[in-house]
Amino acid sequence: MASTLTLRKRLEDLTGDEEGHSLTKSLNALSITAIGIGCIIGAGIFVLTGTAAANYAGPGIMLSFALGGIACAFVGLCYAELSALIPVSGSSYTYTYATLGEFFAWVIGWDLVLEYAMGAATVSVGWSGYMVSILRDLGIFLPPQLTSSLGASVKLADGSTATGVFNVPAALIVLLLTFLLSRGTKESATANNIMVVVKLAVVVGFIVIGAFYVDTSHWSPMIPENKGEFGEFGWSGVLRGAGVVFFAYIGFDAVSTAAQEAKKPQTDMPIGILGSLGVCTVLYILVAAVLTGLVPYTELNVPDPIAKGADAVGMGWFSWPIKIGAIAGLTTVMLVLLYGQSRIFYTMSKDGLLPPVFAKIHEKYDTPYLSQWMIGGCVALIGGLLPISLLGEMVSIGTLFAFILVCGAVIYLRRSESDAHRPFRVPGVPVVPILGILFCLALMAGLPLDTWIRLVVWMAIGLAIYFAYSRHHSVVQKKAGTAAA
Ligand code: ALA
Repeated sequence: MASTLTLRKRLEDLTGDEEGHSLTKSLNALSITAIGIGCIIGAGIFVLTGTAAANYAGPGIMLSFALGGIACAFVGLCYAELSALIPVSGSSYTYTYATLGEFFAWVIGWDLVLEYAMGAATVSVGWSGYMVSILRDLGIFLPPQLTSSLGASVKLADGSTATGVFNVPAALIVLLLTFLLSRGTKESATANNIMVVVKLAVVVGFIVIGAFYVDTSHWSPMIPENKGEFGEFGWSGVLRGAGVVFFAYIGFDAVSTAAQEAKKPQTDMPIGILGSLGVCTVLYILVAAVLTGLVPYTELNVPDPIAKGADAVGMGWFSWPIKIGAIAGLTTVMLVLLYGQSRIFYTMSKDGLLPPVFAKIHEKYDTPYLSQWMIGGCVALIGGLLPISLLGEMVSIGTLFAFILVCGAVIYLRRSESDAHRPFRVPGVPVVPILGILFCLALMAGLPLDTWIRLVVWMAIGLAIYFAYSRHHSVVQKKAGTAAA
C-alpha cells in the first residue's frame, strides 16, 4: 500500500516533538504490569458483573468471564508481539499505521476514542455511584439531580421523582485526574501503584473471605433457562453477558500505549500485557463464582453488587473496605485510560492526522498537557451527561472492533515484515490471531442492535473528519506531494 511506511522509518519518525522534547523513559516491567492491572480491574467487576448476572447470564456469568478471558488471551498475545516489535506510543493505532497505512490507522485511532475516552467517562459514572454511596453512609446527601445523567429519572428523599441534570462527581474526578496526569507520568505512576495494591487487596479479600460463605445451591441451574428472547439467559445470555462484562477486561492493551516510556520495551511490554491479563482473568472468574454463590443472581441488579454480596452474608463490616477499594480501583482505571488517550492523540498528531497541539510537550513536566486537558474537558462533559449502560456497551463494541484489527495486523505483518526482529512471537500464527478474531466477533454478535448502530454512526463521523481534515494535513500525503513536485 502506497501510504505504508516501513517499520524502521516509523520508529525514526516517532521520537520527540518539533522542539526536541520527548517522553521520558521512566517505567519498568512492574510499573507497566501495575498500569495494566490498574486499568483492568474497575467498573467491569465492581459494577457491571451484578447487572450482567441478573439480566443475562445468572451464575453462568462465570462462563461469560471465561469466554471474555479466552478472547483477550488470544488478543493479548497479538498485542505483546506488536508492542515489542513496535515500541512506540499509540497502541493499536501505531500497529495499524505500520501495517495497513494511514487510512486504516485513522479508522482504528478514531475507534479507540470509544475505548479510552468513552471508557474513562463510563468509569467516572461508576466512581460517582460508589462515592455517593460512601457519602450517604457518612450522612452527607447530595441532590440526586446533580449525581445523575441528563434526563434520568431520580428518586428524591420525600419519595417524589425528579429529572437528572448533570453527574457532578463524575465530572469532578475526571478533571482532578487530568490535573495529576498533566503534571507528569512518574508521579501519576506512584499514585497508581498505591491504588492498585488497595483494590487488589479488596478483591482478593472478597474471594478468600466470601468463599467460606458460598451456598452452592445458588449455582443451580448454572445456566438459567432462556426466556424466549436472544440474550435473556440460556446460552445466548451467557454470550450477551460476555459482551457486557468484556468491559471488565479492557485495559490490558492500554499497557501498549506506554511503550515509548518503558525502560526495556522489548521485555517489559509482553510481561506487562500478559501478566496483568492473566492475574485479572483468574480473579474475575473467582469473584463471579463467589458473588453468585453468596446471593441469588436475581438480586444482583444493584450499583454496588460486591458490597451487596458482603452484606447478604452478614459481612456488613466488609462493605466499607469494598467501597473504598472500588473507588481506588475505578480511579486507577480512569487514570490509565485518560493517560492512554493522550498518548494515542500524541502519535496521531505527529502523523499529521490531528492538529499539532495534541503533540505539544510541556517544557517542565514532559507531558502532552494541552491534549490532556482537552481530553479531560470532553470526558468530564460526557461522564456528566450520559448513563453508564449506554457508555459501557459502546466501549465494549468499539474495543472489540479494534482488537479484530490488531489480530489481523499480526497476520499481515508476519508476511510484509517477515525479517523484522520479533523479541516476542505469538505461537501458532495464523491460528491464534484467527481465533482471536472469531472470539471478538462472537462477543460483538452478543451485543444489542442499537449498540451496533451507534458504532456505525461514530465511525461515519470519523470518516467525515478524515476526509475533511486529516487527509490534507497528513505527514505521508505531504511527503508524497513534495516528492511529486
Ligand atoms: N476494565 C475496566 C473496568 O472494568 C475498563 O473498569
